[in-house]
Amino acid sequence: MNRRSALTLFASYVASSPLFAAEDELLGPVNVHEFEDVAKRKLHKLAYDFIAGGVEDERTLRANVEAYGHWDLVPRVMVDVTNVDTSVELFGLKLEQPILIAPTGGKDLVMPGAEEVVAKAALKSKTLLCSATGARKLLESGEPLMWWVNGIGQATKEQAVHFARRTEDVGGKAIVLTVDNAYQSNRDRNNRNRFDYGMMRLGVPKPGEEVKPVNPARAAMWGPHTPSLTWNYIDWVRSASKLPIILKGILAPEDAELAVQRGASGIVVSNHGGRQLDGAIATLDALPDVVQAVAGRVPVLMDGGLRRGNDILKALSLGAKAVLVGRPPLWGLAAFGQPGVERVLWMLGAELKLAMALAGQPSLSTITRRLVRKHA
Ligand SMILES: Cc1cc2nc3c(=O)[nH]c(=O)nc-3n(C[C@H](O)[C@H](O)[C@H](O)COP(=O)(O)O)c2cc1C
Repeated sequence: MNRRSALTLFASYVASSPLFAAEDELLGPVNVHEFEDVAKRKLHKLAYDFIAGGVEDERTLRANVEAYGHWDLVPRVMVDVTNVDTSVELFGLKLEQPILIAPTGGKDLVMPGAEEVVAKAALKSKTLLCSATGARKLLESGEPLMWWVNGIGQATKEQAVHFARRTEDVGGKAIVLTVDNAYQSNRDRNNRNRFDYGMMRLGVPKPGEEVKPVNPARAAMWGPHTPSLTWNYIDWVRSASKLPIILKGILAPEDAELAVQRGASGIVVSNHGGRQLDGAIATLDALPDVVQAVAGRVPVLMDGGLRRGNDILKALSLGAKAVLVGRPPLWGLAAFGQPGVERVLWMLGAELKLAMALAGQPSLSTITRRLVRKHA
């Protein structure tokens, strides 16, 4: 691609983004990291730490991000990349870019009604929200929402059936089961802030405001969540719904194999953004073995640490069909509300397009494993 067409490509993204015309402050952050800086200034420390933090020594949190630096792209040249197509079809839905919004609970620490705000941004950005809490209000407004509904299953058949029926009832296009949450984990930042989940119902804390735990005895977060969840859960959900069932939180290839055998329609390679088991493998490093085990039988998605378009390109090269982002849209939300979320999604998509163009990849179908090499 010559410099002129690269600039034309970039200029067309700029022109197509309504956000460039928005208030000046929006032009401030030029990447996801800078969105985080703005968000950090605007949020109460407790809310910032809840979102940014990982578990214990945060090794996995850091490893997720650092893993992208351990893999190098080996770009191809002399390919016509005047047009770059990032569209992807997932379970019958056509998306303009392979970037979905991961489920994140606790958004109400950022602003009231945050799930609806993010759902609206997803709608405008023509992407898919994997909703942690369900944005029923938006549905009632009659807007054609594209979403998957996430559940951290309670391990009884009755609850599984209820969850599956409810997902159908609210128009979810898939059921996403989080499978890496047997226990609420031991998050030092939350423990230090004496954070407890009850605080989320108290409204958005203002920066500097004193916030007391609602239930001091439970302010240390770790404890049982879904310790008895096993593979039967999939059978129970399947008995109640024909929707695709996607398992989120798979890292071991053995579990990927079991998931496919038990009828999962898709897998998300995830370590919960470094928020569950500290020391767990970085998701980019786990991805190749999972992709090999699944051998194309179902789509493999991944999340964790994606902050740049070229990170996404590496994940796609290692076999991810699409990726999800957790913290980046929350930084956009905290920084500038709905336009901030849209801007972050747009930015990641634009960066991916440019990275694909510069790597000689005009569409997702041309991207293969040969595009990346791991450092020795
Ligand atoms: C504030 C926050 C809340 C989260 N809540 C959930 C949740 O309710 N269910 C779930 O499956 N994952 C949850 N996650 C994990 C995300 O879905 C996703 O796996 C992770 O954020 C991806 O890493 P990234 O933030 O580096 O993109 C949460 C993550 C964050 C940051």
